[in-house]
Amino acid sequence: MRTEQTGAALGDRFVVAVGPVAHGGHCIARHEGQVLFVRHTLPGERVRVEVTEIGPGGRFARADAIEVLEPAPARVPAPCPWSGPGRCGGCDWQHVSPQGQRALKHDVILEQFSRLAGLDLTEHLGRDIEVEAIPGDRDGQGWRTRVEFAVDDAGHPGLRRHRSHDILPIDTCLIADPRVLGTGVLATTYPGATAVDVVAPSVGAPVVVEVPDGPVPVVRERVALPDRELELDVSARGFWQVHPGAARTFVATVLEWLAPRPGEHVLDLYAGVGVFAAAFAPAVGDRGSVEAVEGDRTATEHARDNLAASPWVTVTRDRVDRAVRRMVRAGRTADLVVLDPPRTGAGRAVCRDVGALGPRTIGYVACDPAALARDVGYLIEEGYILRDVRAFDAFPMTHHMELVAALDAP
Ligand SMILES: C[S@@+](CC[C@H](N)C(=O)[O-])C[C@H]1O[C@@H](n2cnc3c(N)ncnc32)[C@H](O)[C@@H]1O
Repeated sequence: MRTEQTGAALGDRFVVAVGPVAHGGHCIARHEGQVLFVRHTLPGERVRVEVTEIGPGGRFARADAIEVLEPAPARVPAPCPWSGPGRCGGCDWQHVSPQGQRALKHDVILEQFSRLAGLDLTEHLGRDIEVEAIPGDRDGQGWRTRVEFAVDDAGHPGLRRHRSHDILPIDTCLIADPRVLGTGVLATTYPGATAVDVVAPSVGAPVVVEVPDGPVPVVRERVALPDRELELDVSARGFWQVHPGAARTFVATVLEWLAPRPGEHVLDLYAGVGVFAAAFAPAVGDRGSVEAVEGDRTATEHARDNLAASPWVTVTRDRVDRAVRRMVRAGRTADLVVLDPPRTGAGRAVCRDVGALGPRTIGYVACDPAALARDVGYLIEEGYILRDVRAFDAFPMTHHMELVAALDAP
């Protein structure tokens, strides 16, 4: 039975034993019966915390570890001078070794699949899942090719403190691609801007976009697949994977698992500028077809240009839920489906309709293990069988990750 308890108050300091990692860049601890989500710590540590936020109704509180009394073996001195309690909120795991960060992400994935898909992933796959570094990783640093810096009232760029609108002026960002910092963005003022977006594309020079009123150029991205290279136009403010090795890793994994055959019909859902459609087009050939569905107007226009050389590829601008509903009503089918939704995932209705299209394999690319686990649960309800999952440390130093899954028709 739950006992009456008042819980911690903002600014309280006390010592806790830290329990497991939780999704979101923090670990769980308990204090006098109340759940605490503690940042800047690791499972197994004993730390002094300061309470930073009280959750609704006092059901939980958030806290920062401000003193480490018993460190965990994976703890390292944070390389970034701007990380730590009350400072930049961009990274969650600067104080953890790269292997330690991947071990935390591994635990989060297993926990999410168990809770949201009702699946023991290790037992189901017959092996433990490994969170893999993206090829080209440099100890988790210098990877971020797209950075949005917030700009304060005086025009100085910085990064926001954790769960705050406060902007911390910074003079470096260790996870940013050196070409991003090489633009001199952090030594420049941007009067009138609310943010400044810096993009270091794989082709050509970096660009700086002042938000909201600056011109937004188109950049070019190259994706080196095992057997050929793709080049695509992307708006400097449009979606593109931020780690330089990420797009080719995910596209190559999905291609290998889905193994498209000549004459097949492929759906690329949440297509962005069409990188998966471009990768599948040669394999299905002009006796087959690829239909890319994307909701954003600018991304759709770029996708049409990027895919113009393959007339058997069509690009539809629509919401994916409406597009797949229409296809199901029309009695259509698909041989293969790629799902690459935003953080919220595809959801129950899209999973149901994708299942009704009857693809032999579904490739799912996800940036949130919770959304993926939930949607895998829905696809299993549609009769699909989870064949494989790979997890990638595509956002080192943060709690974020990317997963690729393949599900087969029964
Ligand atoms: C994670 S990105 C993937 C883009 C692309 N597959 C890639 O790898 O570059 C998700 C894409 O889905 C689009 N999107 C988000 N919600 C959508 C919806 N309900 N219907 C259609 N597209 C949507 C976004 O505009 C974005 O381009």
